[in-house]
Amino acid sequence: MNALDMRNADTGLIGPRHFLELDELPAADLRRIVDAARARKEARKGLPKGAADADAPLAGHTLAMVFEKPSTRTRTSFDMAIRQLGGSAMVMNSADLQLGRGETIADTARVLSGYVDAIMLRTFDPQKLTELADNADVPVINGLTDRSHPCQILADLMTFEEVKGPLKGAKIAWTGDGNNVAATFVQAAAVFGFELAVACPDSLRPNAEILRRAQQRGAKITVTSDASKAAAGADCIVTDTWLSMNDTDGVRQARHNLLRPYQVDDALMARAKPDAIFMHCLPAHREEEATASVMDGPQSVIFDEAENRLHAQKAILLWCFGKL
Ligand code: CP
Ligand code: NVA
Repeated sequence: MNALDMRNADTGLIGPRHFLELDELPAADLRRIVDAARARKEARKGLPKGAADADAPLAGHTLAMVFEKPSTRTRTSFDMAIRQLGGSAMVMNSADLQLGRGETIADTARVLSGYVDAIMLRTFDPQKLTELADNADVPVINGLTDRSHPCQILADLMTFEEVKGPLKGAKIAWTGDGNNVAATFVQAAAVFGFELAVACPDSLRPNAEILRRAQQRGAKITVTSDASKAAAGADCIVTDTWLSMNDTDGVRQARHNLLRPYQVDDALMARAKPDAIFMHCLPAHREEEATASVMDGPQSVIFDEAENRLHAQKAILLWCFGKL
């Protein structure tokens, strides 16, 4: 295939535009995605959820979603996102594909590229996502790996700005497991210029390489084992499950023992600013990483955050197709 044949029909670029890791994408593009998500959300107010946006910019485009882990929000919000943009989606669980019987990810990438216009993958090993992107002729989107969850964090940042205003200069406190979602907040701190205070046990710190990269880019990030210290004066406290989908059940008791001091309860919320918000990507385990009183309390924005997955992903899809 010559270079001209490789040119992407939508973006005019050599090769497709993948959405893989926040710290590999231009900051200006990420800013545009968050802004477009808010603008499109506003523009379609009052329409039934299944109705397409007036401009239907992705009419004729199909998104394939491949899941190697369970999902409620990502699966449903991407499906509705592409529908609202005028396109359509298909959802596949990897166990039902030949992928589950050993067909390579590279071959799967080439085959799916012949049928669909973009592929979203939720998987364990981030290397699989890279391999898919390296071998696909269409945009590939990171729908969560053990390493990161960029679609989630763009929705979170959109939610923060909707409720509290500009991120620049704001303080976000992460408390709990330094998992894939925490690592993506670390990546985002370098891009969006907010202060990030991470509180976690020493053994559960966020990915060291991601942290180093963000700090080299000038991100204002502190890591402490003291949740109360991280929460002090924060504009937002955010946490996640103590046991991620890539964790085995065998670590449950040890995790609970380690993470109990990092639970978000009313006392921890009181350490933050009086108008601070509480975020959680969901699914949550009430009375574990956060108390029900916080999750269902007046400072919680968890369901706006979940809804904003839809709006953020519409903007991500538009960016992938060079329409932002
Ligand atoms: N937050 C999130 O990604 O949820 P799902 O696992 O339900 O997709
Ligand atoms: N850290 C969680 C996020 C789920 C959306 C997990 O990976 O299971």
